Amino acid sequence: MGETVAEILRFLSDYFGEDFKSYSLSLAEKRVAERVAQLRLPDPAQYYQLLQSDQGEPAYLSRMLRIRFSSFFRDPLQFELLRSQITSSLLPVLSQVGFLRAWSAACAGGEEACSLAIIIDETLQLLDAHPKVQIFATDVAEDALAEGRAGYYGRGSLAGVNLKQLDTYFTAEGNGYRVAPKLLSMISYCRHDLLDPHTFAPPESLFGGFDLISCRNFLMYLDPQAYLRVFDNLFRALNPGGVLLLGKAESVPERYHQHLVRIYECGNLYRKQQAGRC
Ligand SMILES: C[S@@+](CC[C@H](N)C(=O)[O-])C[C@H]1O[C@@H](n2cnc3c(N)ncnc32)[C@H](O)[C@@H]1O
Repeated sequence: MGETVAEILRFLSDYFGEDFKSYSLSLAEKRVAERVAQLRLPDPAQYYQLLQSDQGEPAYLSRMLRIRFSSFFRDPLQFELLRSQITSSLLPVLSQVGFLRAWSAACAGGEEACSLAIIIDETLQLLDAHPKVQIFATDVAEDALAEGRAGYYGRGSLAGVNLKQLDTYFTAEGNGYRVAPKLLSMISYCRHDLLDPHTFAPPESLFGGFDLISCRNFLMYLDPQAYLRVFDNLFRALNPGGVLLLGKAESVPERYHQHLVRIYECGNLYRKQQAGRC
């Protein structure tokens, strides 16, 4: 199974000109096994043949591998802890420079970027502070970005939104809710492949320099070398004093333990040490 799946990942990399070899082999094996079962094929080798002959299949499998699931305020505790960090450590810096730059990396359909925008906006309103806020929301999947730009979500993904937020930041429309223009205007959606070896941050952001980076539930799907490579880029793109949010199943590689300090016991929030303090 392993060798065929490795071949499948090489095939997808050549087919799309994008790196599929860096996804973890065990994840790829599970996804291929699922697809083999769905299609009632005898084994992965037969599936590999189909993949090469059926025009729609590469795109289908690539979507399966790049697991899209997201929701608003996924891991609510983390967002609450972030709120207190904005007040206590980020805002004093922001009030000097006048703006806040955030990056939601691997943002899926924008649920995470909107959640960040809500937390930031609520905090700034409460403190009557007015820095310019720019959130770059990036993903490799164009259709995910299109969902984000459209700003329309089904009820299911909004389960973590409270009533006050629903009232303030959304308008009911059909079977779902539309995000308020105020939130959308805080977010710039752009395509960025986190596995692209030629860029370390979204080109639209010009130089990285983020006060806040959220990269959740993406690194966990990579092989160990790719995990480190992407992590290097995230670290480089984060300003000293900036805050990094990881997913529950993700951790800071050992070589960054001195440079990224865990802010709370729980919640997976880290602060990048100021130069000279590590
Ligand atoms: C499980 S979702 C995580 C969404 C969100 N961060 C969250 O935690 O709810 C993983 C996302 O990673 C994106 N992704 C997969 N490979 C990527 C790559 N090479 N570069 C950027 N995004 C990628 C997928 O398209 C998908 O939207």
